[in-house]
Amino acid sequence: MRIVLIGFGTVGQGFTEILRDKGDALRRQYGFTPQLVGVATRSRGTLMAEDGLDLNALLEAIQKGHLDTYPNNPGVTRNLSTLELLEQCGAQVMLEAGTTDLQTAQPALDHCYTALAKGMHIVSANKGPIALAYPELMARASKVGKQVLFEATVMAGTPSLRLAMQALAGATISEARGIFNGTTNYILTQMEGGMSYAHALAQAQALGYAEADPTADVDGWDAASKVLILATAIFGKQLKLSEMTVRGISSITSEDVEAARAAGERWKLIARVTPQGGTVEPLRIPVTHPLASVGGATNAVTYVTDMLGEVTLVGAGAGRRQTGFALLADLLDLHRLGV
Ligand SMILES: NC(=O)c1ccc[n+]([C@@H]2O[C@H](COP(=O)([O-])OP(=O)(O)OC[C@H]3O[C@@H](n4cnc5c(N)ncnc54)[C@H](OP(=O)(O)O)[C@@H]3O)[C@@H](O)[C@H]2O)c1
Repeated sequence: MRIVLIGFGTVGQGFTEILRDKGDALRRQYGFTPQLVGVATRSRGTLMAEDGLDLNALLEAIQKGHLDTYPNNPGVTRNLSTLELLEQCGAQVMLEAGTTDLQTAQPALDHCYTALAKGMHIVSANKGPIALAYPELMARASKVGKQVLFEATVMAGTPSLRLAMQALAGATISEARGIFNGTTNYILTQMEGGMSYAHALAQAQALGYAEADPTADVDGWDAASKVLILATAIFGKQLKLSEMTVRGISSITSEDVEAARAAGERWKLIARVTPQGGTVEPLRIPVTHPLASVGGATNAVTYVTDMLGEVTLVGAGAGRRQTGFALLADLLDLHRLGV
């Protein structure tokens, strides 16, 4: 399977490490032989190699700071623009692991449209195109008979979308609710242990959970983007961020946390989506509630179904390998489909 990887940051590198470390096992167990024929970054160079890039050399090059330090092997082309790379690389699958933009979905959306026009399937870790342009993306994909897979966009490699769309196929899901942002859940958990909001946020940043600009996390927009994705994937509804109630955790004080504890409750940033719409808001829930025991950077989703009642999945919501693994799982699905 010839793959082009757009974005070579945390997730792109985590994915490449998985391919390097599990290459033999993937071939043995699944007959799966992926080949990375191109990699793009915004500011650290671009590489294309018809016969595939050497994964160790690629990871070494990015650790040195720039893909220009990749060896001068025959057949290697450097410094194409991202769109030129997509036009020329001849890949069967594009992995979109570039920066999420929740206002415009760009430039990732143009990458997706170009990849589809060039006959590639799409596997996206990028939330923008899925949250904002799913109907158009799927229309273009079905016109050319290609797949768009996006497990990484909700709860990283924890198979939240697979559970809803594959394992629960045939059941009717009436609601999904959960904890979809590790940064805010980590902060709330630390505050329960007596830490101030500011200190807990600084710690989340130091641990790499929060972005340098944590607004999208603490104000609820990251969780809201996952609500958009679940709404469209499960209910076929294209919600808009501007039409949703979205409240974050920045106004929750140590006193609020203490008051909840005294009442046998716990604050959680709960995202909820039904066929009617979605919300993200901090709620006090009883400590006996299934989502109350989800602590630290962990995420969880509960699907309310007609067949099984409530089904809850708890697991990693972010991380280098955890998200890289979601890309692998989607690629294995494409492999099973014969790509
Ligand atoms: N990190 C997680 O745990 C996680 C979990 C789920 C989903 N995601 C999503 O996965 C995606 C990647 O996340 P990340 O944490 O890996 O981000 P990151 O470390 O900031 O890496 C982003 C990469 O995209 C590249 N990029 C940006 N614009 C580009 C363009 N126009 N053409 C080519 N490359 C471009 C950047 O280039 P430079 O290196 O030059 O900056 C960088 O290599 C994001 O959309 C994120 O929302 C992340």
